[in-house]
Amino acid sequence: MSHADDHEGTRRDFLYYATAGTGAVATGAAVWPLVNQMNPSADVRALSSIRVDVSGVEVGTQLTVKWLGKPVFIRRRTEEEIAAGRDVEMSQLIDTSAQNPNKGDVAATDENRTMDEAGEWLVQMGVCTHLGCVPLGDGAGEFGGWFCPCHGSHYDTAGRIRKGPAPENLHIPPAVFEDETTLVLG
Ligand code: FES
Repeated sequence: MSHADDHEGTRRDFLYYATAGTGAVATGAAVWPLVNQMNPSADVRALSSIRVDVSGVEVGTQLTVKWLGKPVFIRRRTEEEIAAGRDVEMSQLIDTSAQNPNKGDVAATDENRTMDEAGEWLVQMGVCTHLGCVPLGDGAGEFGGWFCPCHGSHYDTAGRIRKGPAPENLHIPPAVFEDETTLVLG
């Protein structure tokens, strides 16, 4: 094998595939590669803000948008989901970090995971913290939140990992409400 062939083979080895769109979100089985070196630098991220109109999101439903090539779940939680999330002790959690850059290094209480004080809006990356699949939503899994069927990770109504191989709660992206119905990601 020539040196050029060798090089080509090496390049091929690095090919990987990402699947996007609602189909992938619906099946929950698409792998969303977590390739750290592909993450954009801070200055690129600053240019990558998007505005999302959430006025059409009903209580008990979830809007999925794509941000920086990855899915973001925007859920408007029901009273029951909020109550279930708040009724959890820290000692029951696998990951006690809120994983919320909007609030700093704080504990994974339900209140520290949500956008608003009432706890209605939960915004998080739709990327399983195990190997990057897109979890199923709408009350999926044993804890009524999200379920990743790839290897069986269960997340609760606050997106916190409760069972399965995923090591961390679903990550929360930089996000802020610009006004009552406009969410800015990034
Ligand atoms: S990628 Fe979600 S459980 Fe493995």
